[in-house]
Amino acid sequence: MFGSPVEVKRQDGGFLRIKRLYLKNFRNYSEADIDFSYSTSLIYGDNAQGKTNIIEALFMISTGKSHRTNNVNELIKHGKNHFRVLLDFEDNGYDQNIEIRYIKGKRKELFINGVKKDKISDMLGVIPSVLFSPESILYVKGSPGERRRIMDIVLCQVKKDYLINLQRYNRIIKNKNIVLKQMQIGRSEEKQLDVWDEEASMTGFKIIKERQMLTEELESRMNGIIKGISEGKERISIKYKTFKEIDKIQNGHKDLLETIINNREKEIETGSSIYGPHRDDMEILLNGKNARMFCSQGQQRSIALSLCVAVMGLMEEKLGKKTLLLLDDVMSELDEKRQKFLLELIGNRQTVITTTEKTKYNALSQNNISFIKVSSGKIIEENA
Ligand SMILES: Nc1ncnc2c1ncn2[C@@H]1O[C@H](COP(=O)(O)OP(=O)(O)OP(=O)(O)O)[C@@H](O)[C@H]1O
Ligand SMILES: [Mg+2]
Repeated sequence: MFGSPVEVKRQDGGFLRIKRLYLKNFRNYSEADIDFSYSTSLIYGDNAQGKTNIIEALFMISTGKSHRTNNVNELIKHGKNHFRVLLDFEDNGYDQNIEIRYIKGKRKELFINGVKKDKISDMLGVIPSVLFSPESILYVKGSPGERRRIMDIVLCQVKKDYLINLQRYNRIIKNKNIVLKQMQIGRSEEKQLDVWDEEASMTGFKIIKERQMLTEELESRMNGIIKGISEGKERISIKYKTFKEIDKIQNGHKDLLETIINNREKEIETGSSIYGPHRDDMEILLNGKNARMFCSQGQQRSIALSLCVAVMGLMEEKLGKKTLLLLDDVMSELDEKRQKFLLELIGNRQTVITTTEKTKYNALSQNNISFIKVSSGKIIEENA
C-alpha cells in the first residue's frame, strides 16, 4: 500500500517525523501511548521512572538493538513473556508504522506497515537516529569495542552491504575459533583453518575498508565541530588501527591473510582469532595525543559530542533525510557554551530529550515542544 519506506525516503528532501510510540510490557511500562508529534519532546521526571526506557525503545526501533544491553529478555517487563514497540511515523507525506514484537525465547519480529519482514535488519535506515547520552563519553575513554560499536552502528544504518558482511564475518570468526579450539586437542587439521582464514581475510578486509573511509569522513567533520566549541585551539585526528598501518597495506585482503597465517601458531595457542576487524580500534587523538589517555573528562565529553554530531551529519547526508536526535540526560554535564551549541543543533531536527530538570531547557522555543512527565512507568502529558 505504502511501498517500502526505504525506497520512499531517497526521493525528495527527506521529510521524516515520528508521531506516536506505543509500548507494551517494555521495561517498566505495562502499556504506554506517547504523542511525539511535536518537534521537540521533553521527557522529564525523577530518577528511575522510565525516561531512558523510552529512549531505548526509540533507539531499538531505529537500530534493531538496545543501546544498554545485548540481552533482549531484559527488555521484557518483569513477570511478562513478551513486549511490543510500535512507532507511527510520517515519511515524505506517507503515514507509516514500524513495529518490533518479541516473545521470550523466540526471535524478534519486525513489521513495517503491518507486513512481517524476513529480517530484522530491514528496519535499518527507516528511522535514522543519533543518540547522545552521558555514556557517549565511552566512545572516547572506553575500550576499543565501544568505538567498533559506534562505527558499526553508523555503517549498518547507511549501508546494507556492510551489515551483511559484518554478520558473515562474525559467523566466520565463530566457526574459525571452534576449529582453533579443536586443534588444541588434536581434533582438527590445519587445512580446515586455510578455508576459514581465506574467508575471514576477504570479508574482514571489506569491513576494514569501510571503517577506514568512515574514520576519514568523521575526522574532517569533527574538526569543524570542535572548532566551534573550543575557540579553534584543538585539533582532532582519527586513525583506524588494524593489523598493519593503513598506508603500508599494498595487496588488500592478501596482506591480512598473510598476517593471519604468519601468526597461526599464536592463534592455535590462544584458541582465538587475533587479527581482523573484530580486534581493531579507532584511535582518537587531540592535538596529537591519545584522547583516551591524555584528555580531561571535559575534553573527552566535547570529543564525544563532536563525534555524535559528526555521525549525525554523515548519516543525514548519506540517507538524504534528517535524523531523529535522542538526547538522554546530557544537559547537566555540559558547560554553558556546549549547552548553547546543543540547543542550536536541536533547532531544525526532531528531538527527544530526557531530563530530571525541566528548567534546564527554558531556552528552547516554546512553540513546538511537548512536555511529557514520566512517573513509575506512567506517562503524564502536558502539551503546551
Ligand atoms: N525489565 C524490566 N521490568 C520492569 N522494570 C524495569 C525493567 N528494566 C528496568 N526496569 C525499571 O525501570 C526503571 C529505570 O528506568 P530508566 O532507566 O528509564 O530510568 P530514568 O527515568 O531514565 O532514570 P535516571 O534519571 O536515573 O536516568 C528502574 O526502576 C528499573 O528497575
Ligand atoms: Mg535515565
